[in-house]
Formats: sequence, C-alpha cells, structure tokens
Amino acid sequence: MKIQTITWHRGKIRIVDQTRLPARFCYIYLEDIVQVFRAIRTMQVRGAPALAAAAALGVVLSARKRRTKNIEALKSQIDKDIQYLAKARPTAINLFWGLERMRRVIDSDIYQTKEGLNNALLKEALNIIEEDKRVCRKIGREGARLVRNGDKILTICNAGLLATIDYGTALGVLYRAKKEGKDFVVFACETRPLLQGARLSCWELQRAGLDVTLICDSMAATLMQKRGINKIFVGADRIARNGDVANKIGTYNLAVLAKYHKIPFYVVAPLSSFDKNIKRGKDIPIEERPSFEITNLFFKKPITPKGIKVFNPAFDITPHNLITAIITEKGILQKTEKRGQSKFRKFDF
Ligand code: MRU
Repeated sequence: MKIQTITWHRGKIRIVDQTRLPARFCYIYLEDIVQVFRAIRTMQVRGAPALAAAAALGVVLSARKRRTKNIEALKSQIDKDIQYLAKARPTAINLFWGLERMRRVIDSDIYQTKEGLNNALLKEALNIIEEDKRVCRKIGREGARLVRNGDKILTICNAGLLATIDYGTALGVLYRAKKEGKDFVVFACETRPLLQGARLSCWELQRAGLDVTLICDSMAATLMQKRGINKIFVGADRIARNGDVANKIGTYNLAVLAKYHKIPFYVVAPLSSFDKNIKRGKDIPIEERPSFEITNLFFKKPITPKGIKVFNPAFDITPHNLITAIITEKGILQKTEKRGQSKFRKFDF
C-alpha cells in the first residue's frame, strides 16, 4: 500500500495518526483549525515538511468555515487563523513557510469572491503537497550519490515518508539508494523521549524492505567504535544562514561523536527548511515540551519520582563546523575552506 500522510478528502484533512504507530496504522480526519492545531501540537502529524502541508490545508478549512459579511472581513479572519496555527510549534520553519505561502494568496487582490479565494487557497495547499513529493525525490537522487555498497548508515528521529508527504528527506536518500540496487545497512536511534526512530523510522524502513537495526540513543558511540558506522544522514527543522542546523534532540550528540570518529555527517533538507532571516543557530527558537513525555508517556506507570524537575527540549542545534554537507533538491551544499576556517558556500535563496 502506498501511503500519503496528508490528503484533502471531501472537505476534510485526512492524516495518518503518527501517535498510534507502529501498533496501529489509521487515518484521522480534521474538520476545523482547532483540530489541526491540536494534531500538530500533539504530533499526530509531525516532521517539518509535513507541518507545512498540514498547516496550509488548515488555512483552507479556516476559509471554508468562516461566515463573514464580505471578502475583506473573511481575509482578516483567515489572517487571525494563520497567526493561531503559527503558534502550534515553534522550531520547524516549514510550518511558517507553508502559512506564508497561504498568506500570499489572501494578500493578493485577484480573489474578490469567497469562492474564488477558497479555490485559490486549496490550489496553493495542493501545490505544496505535490511540490513536496517532487522535491523529496530530487533530494533522494542527490543524496543517493553518496551511498556506497557496504555502507553502515546511522540516522535519528524520523525524516522519512511520515515526516513529509510520501517519500522523506534523509530516509528518501536511503529509499533511492536501495532503488538503485545499492547494498547497505541502516541503524536507527530510538530518539527519546517520543521515539520517532523506534516507532516510525523502524516501521517505515522495515516496511520498505531495508535492513534496519534499532539502537538506544546512548549506544551511538559504541556503534561507531565497534560496528564501523561510516555515514550519518539526518533531517532538519530549520537551517540558519551560516549552516547551523536545528533538528531533533540528539542530533548534535551524533555530530560531535561523528567528528571524533571521523564519520561524514550529512544533513538532508529541502530549501523550505532554510531560514534566511536567521544568521546563526543560537537564534533559532527551540521548543520545550511537557515533562510527562519523559516521565510517563510510553510507560504504564511513571518511571521517575513524583515532582522531579525535567528539562525537555525537543530540538538541538548542530553547529555548521560539524556538518560535512547539506543535501538539498538543488544539489549538495559543500563547505569551502578560507584561512583555515570552513564555511558553507553562500546559498542563493
Ligand atoms: O518533533 P518532530 O518529530 O516533528 O521532529 C522531526 C525532526 O526533527 C525531523 O528530523 C525533521 O523535521 C526533518 S523531517 C523530514
């Protein structure tokens, strides 16, 4: 069965509920923007590119549900709903990128009737979905050039079909390499606390027939030392102008370990993950999530003493000097050396 994580289905948004995987594969239907907001916040839909599509379709729902006197009042209501959806999660730039594309439609003077505006908004949201499919496949082709027979590849979180529309970024590279007949194995970090690696990447890689082995996050160093990991591919939630990357918590750990073990560290992301307004990683907002995700969520009983203080950042920043290259749909962004300092070539947004 071919999976599409997000579809427009008879006036509703149909998403794969990622909180139920791998025990259950099921779709749920979102009918208004409060449901879209909740699905994003609770990570029923997650992964940077998927957030862009879910939010864009959320704007379509907003336009259809609002009852207003005239088109200007409608546009102003949609604008409020866009601001509301933008608060669902702070780190992945793709969420704001998707909403910004929708805002450009409402800002345009071309649409002067409710019907015209509704159609244009739906068209734009569906464009975002179709573009994601094409872009991920392009990224996959670029990245697969780096994969060799016999590779032992490590990844973290889920940057696969579930995090996009139907293919993936970091995992898209692996799907493409497999399609080209390359013979390699994959190790997936479980990705505490929400286990996107264990639950989602393992599920989709296994389903696609890739050779995948699960490890606890704390086993990565030993894996590099003893099992000869020779490449790391990860996704991104936001990339600053200098090439610093925000991605799932634990990515930075892997990058530091990779440097010590001299393993190439590749970030795989669409151009929509680049934030041209942010100069360096430390300016990227990092989401902090509730403590129960660490103390209770996947356990029948709490595993910690009651009232324990918890620090639960959902993302970390990998400095650009730990990154070997960034793989995008426009090619592989390599670093250049200047006076002993390595920098990413200036990117043409
Ligand atoms: O908190 P999540 O599960 O939404 O985090 C997702 C990631 O960190 C992914 O690596 C990133 O969004 C890239 S997905 C192609």
